[in-house]
Amino acid sequence: MMAKYIVAGNWKMNKLPSETYDFVKSVAAATENAGCEVVCCTPYVCLSKAVEAANGTHVKIGAENLHFEDKGAFTGEVSADMLKDLGVTYVIIGHSERRQYNAETDETVNLKAKKALEKGLIPIVCVGESLEQREAGITMDLISIQIKKAFAGISAEDAKKVVIAYEPIWAIGTGKTATSEQAEEVCGGIRKILAALYCEKCADEITIQYGGSMKPSNAKELMEKPNIDGGLIGGASLVTEDFAAIVKAAN
Ligand code: PGA
Repeated sequence: MMAKYIVAGNWKMNKLPSETYDFVKSVAAATENAGCEVVCCTPYVCLSKAVEAANGTHVKIGAENLHFEDKGAFTGEVSADMLKDLGVTYVIIGHSERRQYNAETDETVNLKAKKALEKGLIPIVCVGESLEQREAGITMDLISIQIKKAFAGISAEDAKKVVIAYEPIWAIGTGKTATSEQAEEVCGGIRKILAALYCEKCADEITIQYGGSMKPSNAKELMEKPNIDGGLIGGASLVTEDFAAIVKAAN
C-alpha cells in the first residue's frame, strides 16, 4: 500500500469564525473531484463552524494544536476529547511557529502525538530545519532526532496513521520554497529513518508532506517527487482558488 496523498491547509491565526462556514463550503465546492484527502486546519474558535460546513462533503477538519493531558487545570488549553467531540479529524503538532513561540519541544510533540493517536485523531507532525542548521550541514541529523523523538513509544500500527510534514523553517511564509530536489532529499531521508524504526512497508504507507511556500506554481513539481505525498499549506490555503489549484496538482 502506498501513502495517501493529503493536502492540508494551515490557516494559522487567520480568518474569523464568521468567515469560516462560507470559506470551507467554497473549498469543498472547488475541490469536489479531488483525488487526494483535503483538510482545513483552523483556529480552535473556527472549528465548530468548519465541521458544520464540511459535514456531508469530502473535506476533513483539523486543529492546529492540542494539549497532551486528558483534562484538568490547564487554563487556555484544549484536549483531544474536546476536538473529537467537535468532529475534528486531524491535528497539527509541533509546527515550527509553536516550537518557536510556545515552548513546543520534541518531548511535548511526542506526548501530543501519542495522545492524538490514543483518542483517534490523526496527527500531522511537523519537522524542519532553520537556515542556520541547513547551512551548517546538519539538516538530516536534526530531522532524524525530531522524527525519532516524535515517534518514541509509538507502535508500527499507530505510526502508519501519522502524517509527517517536512517544513524547512526558512521556507515558511517567506516565499522562498525549497527546490523539489531539496525537499525530496529530506522527505526521502525521513522515509529511510521510518523504515529503520519500523519496516520498509510501514514507511511506504506513511504520508510525508512538504510545507513552506507551496503554491499553485510549484505544487506539481514538488508533489511529483516520489517521497512527497502532499502538502501543508499556509498562505495559499487562505484563498480558495489557490488551495484548489494545489489540490488539483496532487491528483
Ligand atoms: P506557508 O506556511 O505555506 O505560508 O509557507 C506553511 C506552514 O507553515 O504550514
